[in-house]
Amino acid sequence: MLSIIDLRVNYGKVRAIQGASLRVEAGQLVSIVGSNGAGKSTILQAISGLVPVSGGEIWFDGERLDRLPAHEIVRRGIAHVPEGRALFGRLTVLENLELGAYARQYTRREFDRVLEEVCTMFPILKKRARQKAGTLSGGEQQMLAIARGLMLRPRLLMLDEPSLGLMPSRVSQIFETLSQIKRRDLTIVLVEQNVQESLELADYAYVLQTGRVVLEGPGDVLLQQDMIRQAYLGM
Ligand SMILES: Nc1ncnc2c1ncn2[C@@H]1O[C@H](COP(=O)(O)OP(=O)(O)OP(=O)(O)O)[C@@H](O)[C@H]1O
Ligand SMILES: [Mg+2]
Repeated sequence: MLSIIDLRVNYGKVRAIQGASLRVEAGQLVSIVGSNGAGKSTILQAISGLVPVSGGEIWFDGERLDRLPAHEIVRRGIAHVPEGRALFGRLTVLENLELGAYARQYTRREFDRVLEEVCTMFPILKKRARQKAGTLSGGEQQMLAIARGLMLRPRLLMLDEPSLGLMPSRVSQIFETLSQIKRRDLTIVLVEQNVQESLELADYAYVLQTGRVVLEGPGDVLLQQDMIRQAYLGM
């Protein structure tokens, strides 16, 4: 479904991605793990068209993405839930969800149906619909960010550090949500600091180091690798 071939991204002189190749099959959950600054967010931003690509190719469903502007990429059904959530804090929960649906141009009926579906997954958001997003708890804000992405009815959902800054009980709640979403046959790319949980959930995973893929394989296989256990799991 998604194929990234020898991707390169530079920020001025900083070579953030130095020739990375990744594949995501339809229905899979693929994790990207790696230390701070490895280039995980940059890969997601390159897919979304938010940073210019300096080399390589990105293909989605047989179509080349890396020359398209960001708004065209969203219209292909790629939702990006960015690091730090980027919610509109002074808008209500409902208004944030409406903005998530914007690129789709739903009819009123379609919108209501998608909203109902998303709120079934996140009942708390229905309760808080008229509350300002900025007043939600950290965990609720993260739920809203994911829900906003789902309002697109995306074919590919990309999540950048959904559990960042949350307390452990909230972190497990987020992972529970992710495994629910996964059961809906959605294709997901997940960037996470919680390497253990993220590999447990992943059909396939990539380990990124200074802009290169240094290791890849099924999540459960990677969990057994010494390099992962030592570098990320402290074993
Ligand atoms: N806008 C920018 N301008 C210049 N350099 C940048 C910019 N964004 C990222 N970089 C650099 O590119 C590299 C990769 O950054 P990126 O944010 O993709 O890493 P990451 O793996 O997501 O890290 P983290 O786990 O901290 O979120 C880093 O060296 C970073 O300093
Ligand atoms: Mg990042």
